Amino acid sequence: MKDHLVIFDTTLRDGEQSPGASMTKEEKLRVARQLERMRVDVIEAGFAAASPGDFDAIKAIAEVVKESAVCSLARANENDIRRAGEAVRPAARSRIHTFIATSPIHMEKKLRMSPDQVVEVAIKAVRWAREYTDDVEFSAEDAVRSDIDFLCRIFDEVIKAGAKTINVPDTVGYSIPSVWGERMKTLIERVSGADKVIWSTHCHNDLGMAVANSLSAVLAGARQVECTINGLGERAGNASLEEVVMAVRTRGDLFPVQTRIDATQIVPASKLIAQITGYAVQPNKAIVGANAFAHESGIHQDGVLKHRETYEIMRAEDVGWAQNKLVLGKHSGRNAFKSRLSELGIVLDTEEALNATFARFKDLADKKHEIFDEDLQALVSDETLAPAGEHYKLVYSRVCSETGETPKADVTLTVGGVEKTASAVGGGPVDATFKAIESIVASGSELMLYSVNAITTGTDAQGEVTVRLSKGGRIVNGNGADTDIVIASARSYLNALNKLHSSLEKVNPQADV
Ligand code: KIV
Ligand code: ZN
Repeated sequence: MKDHLVIFDTTLRDGEQSPGASMTKEEKLRVARQLERMRVDVIEAGFAAASPGDFDAIKAIAEVVKESAVCSLARANENDIRRAGEAVRPAARSRIHTFIATSPIHMEKKLRMSPDQVVEVAIKAVRWAREYTDDVEFSAEDAVRSDIDFLCRIFDEVIKAGAKTINVPDTVGYSIPSVWGERMKTLIERVSGADKVIWSTHCHNDLGMAVANSLSAVLAGARQVECTINGLGERAGNASLEEVVMAVRTRGDLFPVQTRIDATQIVPASKLIAQITGYAVQPNKAIVGANAFAHESGIHQDGVLKHRETYEIMRAEDVGWAQNKLVLGKHSGRNAFKSRLSELGIVLDTEEALNATFARFKDLADKKHEIFDEDLQALVSDETLAPAGEHYKLVYSRVCSETGETPKADVTLTVGGVEKTASAVGGGPVDATFKAIESIVASGSELMLYSVNAITTGTDAQGEVTVRLSKGGRIVNGNGADTDIVIASARSYLNALNKLHSSLEKVNPQADV
């Protein structure tokens, strides 16, 4: 019998700390439903004290998710913990994850607290959290650079105070597999009450070793891995869920653990996250990259045709690649459309939203004969990204682009409900369109990234555009999709501008206590 390995997904919390990756409540709900369908054990839905928007999103997720535990992060202070407790209260299974830094550099320079004070605060935090739920997780931030004796001391104390999961983070991505496994082993051997808790690891990828370090911790006794879809996360990201899950499964001969993940949901989850956050997946990324199962060399192709296992250690369909099937076409009716959305876990709140999305689906089906799941996801994203009442809305756009002539764009927008029109010339049709938009909006933002991806194959595919804007230290991503990439670009630019216009400031959990 293998041990159960708890998969703790933090895409909605640590993943959301990637620059510009912040998601709306609706987007978070879609991701949470997909994570539940994938059967992750714990969804870290956010950091409730970060902003009212984060609180609402966690609460909404706690209300709908039934099969996974729903967790909120909380710094080790009473306000954070009470906010987290309230946000996860509706969940069928709720968890509070509280943390405090334990390394000398963090305690001295960031917290300005003595080790004794840190222990005292950690104990109080766990006790407050236990007022809301039995399922309390404690993390020692920057455990990688913490003194091992101090870690043993604080873990002893928080276990006595009622923590049920002890998380050991490599916050700065500094460790290497042998050292990280050894640290986990030492802690499990030395902490009293170690056998009463689940040991967890949370590794960042600054040296590209987050997955390797997490797996080494599992070999040393960790039974929870904290990870994210596509390895999204602060700086270089977190351990990637798909790599951890498939490593444990493919090398079942080496790992004494199994997960309960439905791996066929991995690729759909990866695509959803890429689409919502605008963080494209590199083609050669393990498991979820477009080339992960493509064989280029003739020798490899020949081998795979003769016997698949000559060059493949996993089957593409086992991780969900075969799911990219033709689903709907021009003649599909409203019911077929609605039922495919519900199979994808997409629930549109109102009849109005359903009607508007269906109308856009019909438009798309006129331009593009084959509509795939990814097209539907993009349609829904666009509908929820640009709901009625959005501050900036695209009404009309026209571009003139001819050989030997300077491209020119005419754009009409509504700004707070008032129609405004402008024209501009630019280096290309997209540049001209953005300049026309800017001459209306005068946002003062800086364009940091512009990228286009084809959502499916073929020249009639929808182009999905991501725009990253920065203004006054804030960074936002905007997305838009259309078979016309200039329109997709205009939509994504406006989506980013709307985020800059409306979003409330958020507190980063690791900023301070
Ligand atoms: O990286 C880290 O230390 C964290 C903690 C909050 C667990 O994200
Ligand atoms: Zn982290």
